[in-house]
Amino acid sequence: MNVVVVANFDSMSAEVAKMVFAQIVRKPDSVLGLATGSTPLGVYSLLAEYHARGTDFSRLTTFNLDEYVGLAPDHPQSYHWYMRENFFSKVNIKPDRIFIPNGMAEDLEAECLRYDELIKQAGGIDLQLLGIGSNGHIGFNEPGTEFGTTTHIVDLAESTIRDNARFFESIDQVPTRALSMGIKSIMQAKEVILMASGGSKADAVCAAVKGPVTTAVPASVLQLHPCVTFVVDQAAASRL
Ligand code: F6R
Repeated sequence: MNVVVVANFDSMSAEVAKMVFAQIVRKPDSVLGLATGSTPLGVYSLLAEYHARGTDFSRLTTFNLDEYVGLAPDHPQSYHWYMRENFFSKVNIKPDRIFIPNGMAEDLEAECLRYDELIKQAGGIDLQLLGIGSNGHIGFNEPGTEFGTTTHIVDLAESTIRDNARFFESIDQVPTRALSMGIKSIMQAKEVILMASGGSKADAVCAAVKGPVTTAVPASVLQLHPCVTFVVDQAAASRL
């Protein structure tokens, strides 16, 4: 595991955007795994700048990690909306090469199977971007999630609902379930980059990097991945 400690959110974003750019240069038809939340926002805006300066994204395929159950793509807190607003509307990825789990599917189990099949058909994920929850979750794989999980339906942890309430008018409006790629799906990516910024992530980063590999801290499984880089700012690295 490589751990790169940078000064702050902006330098974390610049470092990760550069790594994604290098991946696109090396393999223009890469399959990228994408995350939402506050942490990757700077990366997406820098990647949009790379595109504005001429980088072609048209041969990429993308798979998002997760989506809330019950939020339609046009709901402003859905991850479909987030991705369109913050990234897809600013680059030239082909709409039919963008994949996000459908949290409105009538048969959620079938949707999970369909999503895994789509990843397989695309040849697997070349580079997976991750954030980390303050409880150590990756994607919406909450503490206790088995390492063998593929895309699945998740009951969100209380702490995650509380963390995410800042995006909703009230905590009652935060969905309690989500569809998420599993730990196994993430571990099958050829390369993984985990980003973290801010002191609220320091305990989770420390447990993931230095603690035992345990389902109690889902991100700790990344110690077993052959090609993973943590790009963390000083505040998030403060317990390392
Ligand atoms: C989002 C996701 C989550 C977030 C994590 C951190 O797609 O998979 O695991 O990465 O909850 O969220 P932020 O970046 O908002 O602190």
